[in-house]
Amino acid sequence: MMPVFDRRSGTARSKWRYRNLLLVALLTFCAVQIIVVVTYYRRISGQQEAARRKAAAGKATASRPPRPKFVGRKEQEKLLQQSTNYSEQRVQRLRQKQDAAAAQLAKGHTPPVVGTSVFPSGNEDGECIGIGPPPSGTVAAVVVVTFNRAKYLEQMLASMLGVHGRDCSNKRKFPLYVSQDFNSSGVQDVVAQHLDRISFLQHREDVEPVVPDRKEKVVYYRIANHYKFILHTMFDCFGYDRLIILEDDMQLSPDFFSFFEATAPILDADPSLYCVSSWNDHGQDRFVSNATQLYRSDFFPGLGWMLNRRVWQSVKDNWPRGYWDDFMRLNATRQGRQCIRPEVCRTYNFGDIGSSSGQYFRLFLKPITLNTEDVRWQQRDLGFLEQGRYRQLFEREVAAAQELAGLEEVPNAAPGRDYVLRYSSQQHYESLTGKLRMLREWRDGVPRGAYRGVVAIRNAAGARILLAPTPDVDFSAARYNPDVKQRLDSTGAVIRKRPPVARTGRIQPDRTQQQQMIGAGKSGTRKATRTRQRSQQHAPANL
Ligand SMILES: *[C@@H]1O[C@H](CO)[C@@H](O)[C@H](O)[C@H]1NC(C)=O
Ligand SMILES: *[C@@H]1O[C@H](CO)[C@@H](O)[C@H](O)[C@H]1NC(C)=O
Ligand SMILES: *[C@@H]1O[C@H](CO)[C@@H](O)[C@H](O)[C@H]1NC(C)=O
Ligand SMILES: *[C@@H]1O[C@H](CO)[C@@H](O)[C@H](O)[C@H]1NC(C)=O
Repeated sequence: MMPVFDRRSGTARSKWRYRNLLLVALLTFCAVQIIVVVTYYRRISGQQEAARRKAAAGKATASRPPRPKFVGRKEQEKLLQQSTNYSEQRVQRLRQKQDAAAAQLAKGHTPPVVGTSVFPSGNEDGECIGIGPPPSGTVAAVVVVTFNRAKYLEQMLASMLGVHGRDCSNKRKFPLYVSQDFNSSGVQDVVAQHLDRISFLQHREDVEPVVPDRKEKVVYYRIANHYKFILHTMFDCFGYDRLIILEDDMQLSPDFFSFFEATAPILDADPSLYCVSSWNDHGQDRFVSNATQLYRSDFFPGLGWMLNRRVWQSVKDNWPRGYWDDFMRLNATRQGRQCIRPEVCRTYNFGDIGSSSGQYFRLFLKPITLNTEDVRWQQRDLGFLEQGRYRQLFEREVAAAQELAGLEEVPNAAPGRDYVLRYSSQQHYESLTGKLRMLREWRDGVPRGAYRGVVAIRNAAGARILLAPTPDVDFSAARYNPDVKQRLDSTGAVIRKRPPVARTGRIQPDRTQQQQMIGAGKSGTRKATRTRQRSQQHAPANL
């Protein structure tokens, strides 16, 4: 028994030791487990906190316009339709106001222009959604054209409201509107946050546009209809005498409203004027410097522009079903009229959605200089812009300019006088401007930014270089006919035939333009790019 006992007691002793060891091991294991779990938890919550802080910081410093890139189409649309501060209730309240206004309209009570901030949705061929007279003392109504880019619109309105608020009389002089095509709730949410200062219009599509050719995209027709709706509503229904049209990806210069206020009477007084634009196609930082310099131009620049009732009356009956900006650039529409434009742009386009336009944006839109000077336009004498005086002045300036023998002399031209670089044909012009890395596009016989064939830029030193046709060529816009080759070409370069004009008024890109689009992976002419952007903006409607 004893040995058994002994063995037993020995076993008991060793068992006791084992049990202790086991207990220690177990406790250690538990402690390690706890440490692991706690560490893991702290790491996770730390990451969450960091992400929260980063997001908050991102929101606080979100002053740079968003440039979503390399994001899938679906994802992009989702991002665009959701504003950073989206509230479904706000959208619902806006839509209720719209419905109430529509109900009133149905009963025959057309909403008045003054005192209404949300108008019923409307169609370009429908009845008036509101009726004048507009407030007295108005210089021009301002309409921001938008579709579905809520984030851009948010950015744009912040810039516009900031500039508008610099002078309290702007409230009376420049009433603000946003006109939305279709029904993106992200855009409506952004507008709903500013109804104290901005009125809301919505273009409704009653019948889908019929596209003449299956290869064409319906979006160009939708845009033309939206513009027609805006122009018809503002001039024919609301009774405004002038209208400034802006897009949802623009930033404004501090003197934007002062510029349009000072030029409005000039536009009205001079029937040879077509528009006032805040845009210079050659406004890239390397070509401009003088913030107070204004020009007349035969090329319709668009992009932040003002027209008046007289111009609307002259184009409304032929308003195209698609490609409205090409229509505005047709010689037959323009009728020899010109636009006033600044040397330094008063708007900046920050929109750069989609990588297809990335290259174009980088080359021509990103380097645009937005004017930062607060020029007091009222105090400047703008009488020189009058047709006759301007022409005389300009001809004198070109005649007094020193002739440059070639491109190689451009960098050495010293400020203090003007210089002129001659071109003898469209091809010659395109070759020169291509080397200068300028936009070289022509529309219906007119190079971008040209006045009677003359395009002004500056070299790096600030000297003004006038790209001008050789004296034996008459490029005066009204009479210039590119089909007449012999008169135009003194270097043997052949002027191409005018590009065919399609039924829609759309000018087909000619061979050089197509090459330019393809060439070096460039995304081509501005028009092509903008068009592409539009089709992206409008993509959801097409899906
Ligand atoms: C816009 O969408 C809302 C909700 O989806 C709908 O109730 C409203 O009728 C739509 N409005 C228009 C003009 O299509
Ligand atoms: C979000 O909306 C509220 C209410 O309209 C507004 O006061 C606030 O400034 C907005 N915040 C941002 C970041 O836009
Ligand atoms: C800028 O343009 C204005 C208006 O044409 C002119 O009076 C002024 O002299 C120019 N300034 C310079 C530095 O060229
Ligand atoms: C351009 O329009 C003018 C009228 O303003 C006309 O006299 C001229 O013949 C037109 N030129 C061409 C090339 O069609």
